Amino acid sequence: MKTVGIVLAGGSGTRLYPMSAAMSKQLQPVYDKPMIYYPLAALMLAEIRDILIISTPHDLPHFERLLGDGAQWGISLKYAVQPRPGGLAEAFLVGRDFIGNRQVCLILGDNIFYGKLDFLRHAIVANTGGYIFGYHVQDPERYGVVEFDADRNVIGIEEKPISPKSNYAIPGLYVFTPDVVQIAETLAPGARGELEITDVQKAYLAQQRLRVELLGRGIAWLDTGTPESLFEASSFIHAIEKRQGMKIACLEEIALTRQFLSKDEYLESISRLPNSPYKKYCTAVYDEFTAHSISAQQQNIAR
Ligand code: TTP
Repeated sequence: MKTVGIVLAGGSGTRLYPMSAAMSKQLQPVYDKPMIYYPLAALMLAEIRDILIISTPHDLPHFERLLGDGAQWGISLKYAVQPRPGGLAEAFLVGRDFIGNRQVCLILGDNIFYGKLDFLRHAIVANTGGYIFGYHVQDPERYGVVEFDADRNVIGIEEKPISPKSNYAIPGLYVFTPDVVQIAETLAPGARGELEITDVQKAYLAQQRLRVELLGRGIAWLDTGTPESLFEASSFIHAIEKRQGMKIACLEEIALTRQFLSKDEYLESISRLPNSPYKKYCTAVYDEFTAHSISAQQQNIAR
């Protein structure tokens, strides 16, 4: 089944005030890129090329200006407004027509994943209902939390519990079959007055169609909703990029290496970037990529 992506990038961002007073949280920098580049990169790395960006009426035009139609990265970007922050599950109602009869991967615009992301590709292929992840955290009460029985079967999901029954929080990355739209249509707002994503998960769980995969230490999951977590995420990206001399979530690079763009299209795409360290990096990526592919071809000939 074809899989499309949704990046949910609305919300009020109150915990980031005053930074979020004039500019959306998901447009804030995480070290050297706007935050939304990171969830977009995660979707692209999972080979998802049809993506809907959802944001507030005020912020959506800024995302359109930043990201355009996606052709520069060999993907298709569409945009939709969420008039008010009515909850994460509202994404499936706003995105109803976009989803149609396709499987959907929802990622929150303020969630960053780093590490080998094969788990997402695997979830997309294996999913037959809802597929979510569990990530061990110190402060599960801030998130949706998974409850297990003694055999590690999932027996419950709780939204921001006061006394969490495990340390496994559910990251803002979910894969659902197309009937998620019908499930979302049946939901009533929860205690916060929002359509809760945990209620969607509970509906799949009740139908025995929910899979939860636990992510280990090899994956970093960062969220960036508070000044402290935003600062930590920037430090994390900075430390790794500086050490390796390679960028995390450079969308041009992903488009080239995943062959969403041909080499010529890539050159055309980066020719439009303003002179900047970012453009310089994209040029170096091309040189290294072509040197590798030439040497791979030579090795094939030599064999
Ligand atoms: P949150 O961080 O839970 O909420 P928020 O962004 O409004 O921030 P705050 O709590 O500081 O006021 O939201 C998680 C992500 O989902 C974030 O990327 C914003 C997005 N979101 C929406 O797009 N629409 C919504 O209705 C909600 C609740 C969140």
